[in-house]
Amino acid sequence: MRRAAGHRIGLGLIVCLLDTAPMAEPLSGEALFAVACEACHSLGPEPDHRIGPPLGGLHGRKAAGVRGFGYSPALQASGWVWTLPTTVAWLSDPDAAIPNNAMNYVNALSAEETQRLAEWLLAQP
Ligand code: HEC
Repeated sequence: MRRAAGHRIGLGLIVCLLDTAPMAEPLSGEALFAVACEACHSLGPEPDHRIGPPLGGLHGRKAAGVRGFGYSPALQASGWVWTLPTTVAWLSDPDAAIPNNAMNYVNALSAEETQRLAEWLLAQP
């Protein structure tokens, strides 16, 4: 009995800590990338085995520009070039930006976080 109660108190503490986490320092672009993007994207130039194309050297790159990555026809036909405004638009709502794209991502970041992440990402080699 005692043990069970102790366990519950322990869990309560963890939940409290998690609850207050967002109040701390705002996450850096790098940290946002780690949380929201890294499961599907690496940086660097070469396609790897991830679900999404590598995102190194993105600034000024044509959409669907990584050779050897199997992009959707929608992204290939978009004619987009990755700059700050296009990247923010894409990340804010990919389906509205380029319908029928294959990036299965719903933006859970604030507008400010999206902007910070895009700025950081476009500065990566
Ligand atoms: C569930 C996997 C997944 C997540 C999470 C994800 N992406 Fe993607 N992303 C993709 C896929 C797949 C594509 C290719 C889409 C297509 O071909 O239509 C893509 C394409 C892109 C492109 C276009 C690249 C190019 O070469 O034209 C950018 C930019 C991008 N993602 C940025 C991001 C960022 C930044 C995040 C995090 C906020 C993110 N993505 C989260 C899977 C993902």
